[in-house]
Amino acid sequence: MATILLTGATGYIASHTWLALQSAGYSVVGVDDFSNSSPEVLNRIQELGGQRPVFAQADVNDGAALDAVFAAHRIDAVVHFAACKAVGESAAEPLKYYANNLGGLVSVCQAMQRHGVKTFVFSSSATVYGEPQFLPYTEDHPLAAMNVYGRTKLYGEQVLRDLEAADPTWNIAWLRYFNPVGAHESGRMGEDPRGVPNNLMPYVQQVAVGRREFLSVYGGDYDTPDGTGVRDYLHVMDLAEGHVAAVRYLLNEKKSVTVNLGTGVGVSVLDLVKAFERAAGKPIAYKIVDRRPGDLPAYYADATLAKALLGWSAKRDIDQMCADSWRWQSGNPNGY
Ligand code: UFG
Repeated sequence: MATILLTGATGYIASHTWLALQSAGYSVVGVDDFSNSSPEVLNRIQELGGQRPVFAQADVNDGAALDAVFAAHRIDAVVHFAACKAVGESAAEPLKYYANNLGGLVSVCQAMQRHGVKTFVFSSSATVYGEPQFLPYTEDHPLAAMNVYGRTKLYGEQVLRDLEAADPTWNIAWLRYFNPVGAHESGRMGEDPRGVPNNLMPYVQQVAVGRREFLSVYGGDYDTPDGTGVRDYLHVMDLAEGHVAAVRYLLNEKKSVTVNLGTGVGVSVLDLVKAFERAAGKPIAYKIVDRRPGDLPAYYADATLAKALLGWSAKRDIDQMCADSWRWQSGNPNGY
């Protein structure tokens, strides 16, 4: 079976993808600099996967370190997760975001080029669609990023389009993630953001476990069924399995692909809070406050193309997302 290199390998989505790839029979090599993740993740991967993880601590902008990884392992494909993802921070520190998200992307692709590896999976985001012209977003929806983080993803997509145009022997998957939540069903692996969580689910989890007093619901007057923001939340293990399907497609079909990875189901902030209360068996304190600048009222995926091309669709519903998030957070109240 093929060997897959994961960058950002100890991060939230990558760590779950690592296990899913191993379950599907792939060998995995991980690279991370631990700038936003914990080395403890490697112990959990070993515990759950039953194999000692093959890992190198390296920054993706360090070409020599990447060369050493490609020299030591026969890599068949790269899944490039390493990136920064906080919208607010991206406005305050744009150069950090361009260096990590675009510089890192170019550095990884150059290393691949030096070693003759041309199969690449890119972590893109639904954020590249910008203000919805129509919903659900299909893959041919016009692209328009709304913040620095979004631009790093949009420009990253374009870098790869240009690379493929110059050398059509590259096979690339542009995966546009909707809102990943949940945790490994064991409760041993999950999302562990540093500092105050920016995203809804980790914040709800921390309220549930007593680390935060209440959730601020950003806006109760949107034009949505209950007035709160609507998103397409998908279970991180479904997302992980989406990566496995993409890797399989690239290696078998030898064609590139652009797909949404979402459920196609819109869930409001209050729907998610209620589902979490059911899962945890306790109330979640919340207050409705002002809208968060830059937030869209509602968006969700048309998820039919991923099903048609990759044979992948999300299997786990919002109740399972919340149950698994709660199992992770209650068993690991302070994260890793
Ligand atoms: N929300 C709250 N309270 C919080 C956090 C979030 O009410 O404390 C609401 C938001 O207003 C939104 C929903 O919960 O309606 C989801 O917010 P998240 O921050 O969890 O996710 P976003 O949809 O804002 O973020 C997603 C991706 C980002 C991406 C962004 C683009 O997770 O990676 O879209 O703006 F950058």
